[in-house]
Amino acid sequence: MRALALAMILLPATAAAEFFTLKGHGGPIMGIATAPDGRIATASFDNSVGLWTGTQANWLEGHEAAVNAVAFNGTALYSVSDDFTLRRWPGGGIAGQHKGKIVGVALSETHVATASWDGTIGLWPQDGTTSHLLGPTGAGVNAVAFSADGSHLYSAGMDGVLRLWDVSSGQEIRQVIRHGFGINEIVLNESDGWLAYGAVDGVTRILDLETGAERDFTLDRRPILALALSPDRRHLAVGDGEGYIMVIDTSAWRIARDFRATLNGPVWALAFSADGKNIHAGGIADTMYSWPIDSLDEHGKMAETDRSFLKDPDQMENGERQFARKCSICHALTPEGGRKAGPTLFGIFGRPAGTLPGYLYSDTLKESDIVWTDETINLLFDLGPDHYIPGSKMPMQRITEAQDRADLVTYLHRATQVENQK
Ligand code: HEC
Repeated sequence: MRALALAMILLPATAAAEFFTLKGHGGPIMGIATAPDGRIATASFDNSVGLWTGTQANWLEGHEAAVNAVAFNGTALYSVSDDFTLRRWPGGGIAGQHKGKIVGVALSETHVATASWDGTIGLWPQDGTTSHLLGPTGAGVNAVAFSADGSHLYSAGMDGVLRLWDVSSGQEIRQVIRHGFGINEIVLNESDGWLAYGAVDGVTRILDLETGAERDFTLDRRPILALALSPDRRHLAVGDGEGYIMVIDTSAWRIARDFRATLNGPVWALAFSADGKNIHAGGIADTMYSWPIDSLDEHGKMAETDRSFLKDPDQMENGERQFARKCSICHALTPEGGRKAGPTLFGIFGRPAGTLPGYLYSDTLKESDIVWTDETINLLFDLGPDHYIPGSKMPMQRITEAQDRADLVTYLHRATQVENQK
């Protein structure tokens, strides 16, 4: 009973599985980390680290250039930057120094490891005793991962080589993989015996650590820029340069979800929430987006419930295509609405904003006195939700062509009419 009560108090406001955003950074989001207690840390191009409790940020300032990655260690937090330093928070004291950008960080019980474009891997004991460098490897290092007991370290970099190191001697044990293209990201899951890597040429592969066999999840998108494993190890998320997030079910080894997460630019940062229900993502936008995994239908399911996905978008008339590409990931057109991040748009014309029963709107939208008409929907995407209704939960996006907006409105009229669906 006691433990349960405590657990309930500790659950942060954002633990519920719903779509939310974290706003406040002044530049793209390059890295995200989550702590078991629900805190989220974001590393940004704006030189700061955001340490979030709920949707409130505590800004950690000190880096002199873009911050690329963050990692929690109990109450402490480590960050690495284009300013060549590893910093430890609170305080922001320099805990490690390289001769080039630092783009990756990993923790064991005793050490912090840093991946640097100076070609070396820094090993920084957390008790402040003497550090040492592994390498040089001859190429920029992008990613590092410790074995669970901290005795071994994997590294990968621009030369496409995945290396295994002995931490105590600092010696390279072997080259595990030689991929022809640079490897950007690795995720080690020793408990289940595999390591996942994502590369510049768009390759996503899962290496069986015992047999050396590989499973391939490569799609036609590149480069792979972010990988994240859920705390229960059942989901592996992959973010790419074209703005998609693919979620792999690691027990069935199939693609469970695959969706376009940003309409603009790459997915640079991914992390699962502590409860594993949400996937947090960062990219060009100054905002971190978080989707409940269960609200995202897998492609096959979408085809059943959302007719537009049965067709090739290129074969659709323009208004339907606009909807399929830009809205359907979050909005249904049917009365039931499904489990989507946004409210169903069924019967939207003439409906006052924020009034669909049962949907949890932002206060901003509820309190607005907008009524949805041709004009207001047109304005919403002419100006972008962030300008038209600042503070709404709707992600920032604009449809710049007037004809595209007009076609979308025409399509919505047809697809959301109450009579059409009786
Ligand atoms: C990433 C998810 C996402 C995408 C993509 C998205 N929306 Fe939304 N939309 C939302 C959310 C969340 C809300 C609720 C906003 C709030 O409560 O502040 C919303 C609200 C709305 C509303 C107001 C509904 C009401 O009941 O008041 C309209 C209209 C709307 N969206 C239209 C669209 C159209 C048209 C597109 C495509 C051009 C689109 N949205 C794309 C998430 C999305």
